[in-house]
Amino acid sequence: MLAHLLVSSLLAVPSLAASASDWQSRSIYQLVTDRFATPDGSSPSCDTSNRKYCGGTWNGIVTKLDYIQNMGFDAVWISPIVANVEGETAYGEAFHGYWTQDINSLNSHFGTADDLKALASALHDRKMYLMVDVVINHMAAATNPPNYGGFSPFNTQSDFHNECFIQATDYDNNQTAVEQCWLGDQNLPLADINTEDDNIVNTYNTWISNLVQNYTVDGQLAFTQSERLFAFNIHKLYVIYVCMQVLDNSTAYVGPYTQVLDAVLDYPNWFTLTSAFSTSSGNISALAATVESSQSAYKNSDFYVGSFLENHDQPRFQSLTQDQALIKNAMTWPFVQDGVPILYYGQEQGYTGGADPANREALWLSGYEEDKPLVTHVKTLNAARKAAASANSNFYSTAVKILSSTPNSIAVSKPPMLALLSNKGSSSSPEWTVASAGFSPNEQLVDVLTCSSVTADSNGGITVQGSGGMPQVLMPISALSKSGTVCPKVATGQASSASTLKTMLPTALALAILVAKIFS
Ligand SMILES: *[C@@H]1O[C@H](CO)[C@@H](O)[C@H](O)[C@H]1NC(C)=O
Ligand SMILES: *[C@@H]1O[C@H](CO)[C@@H](O)[C@H](O)[C@H]1NC(C)=O
Ligand SMILES: *[C@@H]1O[C@H](CO)[C@@H](O)[C@H](O)[C@H]1NC(C)=O
Ligand SMILES: *[C@@H]1O[C@H](CO)[C@@H](O)[C@H](O)[C@H]1NC(C)=O
Repeated sequence: MLAHLLVSSLLAVPSLAASASDWQSRSIYQLVTDRFATPDGSSPSCDTSNRKYCGGTWNGIVTKLDYIQNMGFDAVWISPIVANVEGETAYGEAFHGYWTQDINSLNSHFGTADDLKALASALHDRKMYLMVDVVINHMAAATNPPNYGGFSPFNTQSDFHNECFIQATDYDNNQTAVEQCWLGDQNLPLADINTEDDNIVNTYNTWISNLVQNYTVDGQLAFTQSERLFAFNIHKLYVIYVCMQVLDNSTAYVGPYTQVLDAVLDYPNWFTLTSAFSTSSGNISALAATVESSQSAYKNSDFYVGSFLENHDQPRFQSLTQDQALIKNAMTWPFVQDGVPILYYGQEQGYTGGADPANREALWLSGYEEDKPLVTHVKTLNAARKAAASANSNFYSTAVKILSSTPNSIAVSKPPMLALLSNKGSSSSPEWTVASAGFSPNEQLVDVLTCSSVTADSNGGITVQGSGGMPQVLMPISALSKSGTVCPKVATGQASSASTLKTMLPTALALAILVAKIFS
């Protein structure tokens, strides 16, 4: 079993938030507030290795919502919002927001309570969700032993487990240590909160409820391993949809969480996705095996999983390869498999940062260009997903089917979509032959990534040769709307009268909480 530091979960609050099936249709853009946008549109330098605040704010995010929405995202997941350790520590400043000191105050570097409320309303006006990232597991201290009195509201030593630091070997051998010892180190201890204590759980429950009401947020929680039971308590009290992240590569380990919560952020899939596409010697069959195993190991199949290629804790995919074909194939996957796609900001601009802190680059340095190939790629994938859901009302809850897989290629069907991926790279001309792809005999298809035509054979199968190692996403031309955003020139389907966006409660609340792996 692989070392797993984190368990986190997406959640939504019942009286106000959308249902799990509403979440299924979402597409999430994840960002680090300090690094996404400045309020005045300026472009200050931002050297990630300095680990200092660079100037992004909640008001800054509001100014760039067109950029996010133009790509087709309808939910934004922001980094933690509460007051953190101030000033320079051995590991720089708390620009990422994961070093909580006071859960009842906001981090003033990012703005005021009114600014955060304004961000929530601006999103809701666009029928988008807001997710806020919150740390539940620990408080961060700039000294060891910590000054417990400086924390709020858990401000006495008895609110915390005794100090001992989790050792790398504990993840395989000592679950007690994983649950009760501390993350961090002597320079910046992350004091582990005693979340087995009912009073602490009650305090958190009230706090979460207030947070959601104060800022009309819409739902995600993150817990470290030790907070497993606590997460389940929260679920019982408030939550209708929980997507929990367990940083582990085994579906057998992650699966049981889905028995109590709705879903997981799909780390098992991330491991095989990353290794399958980061080189031409990757193993796509291993990715296929993970999908099939998670479909049976997870309670709701894969339907509610958070599906991602990058996040703030992992080296960016484009630090592993610069081959544009491999990148486009890998980026396609979260949008064509089951679950809710999550894109980590900057991937669309070709950012190449490696491990933390390099993977938290300032997005303003990209100029937010919207005509870059990967921006277009993401936009097409989001649009294709919505078009597929318009054509098949069960699209989101139809299990993706592996029609063929080899170490170098895969064909997956999620009607009306057939995705053909390969890891042979830019200099290859991959070929896919699928005897029965589920299309009608001789049906006219289009690769939505290029708008080129393909005709199914008399059995509804396909034989396709790609160029430049690029992926293809085939859909029947009849499933595309003439007034839609996916290849409108070749579309033959009805001109759509209404937006494909499902109406959502304008007051829907979401709360996003994620515990960071702070030291790598
Ligand atoms: C597991 O870790 C705890 C906390 O550090 C320690 O007290 C206990 O002795 C460890 N157990 C084993 C079997 O090593
Ligand atoms: C919510 O607002 C109330 C009233 O202003 C305040 O007392 C409380 O601390 C806030 N809670 C959170 C979690 O923001
Ligand atoms: C998980 O990772 C470990 C260590 O790299 C490896 O030995 C194991 O086979 C992997 N398990 C799965 C299910 O991929
Ligand atoms: C690729 O993955 C499959 C499925 O896990 C496995 O059976 C096969 O041995 C792997 N092939 C290589 C070359 O590692």
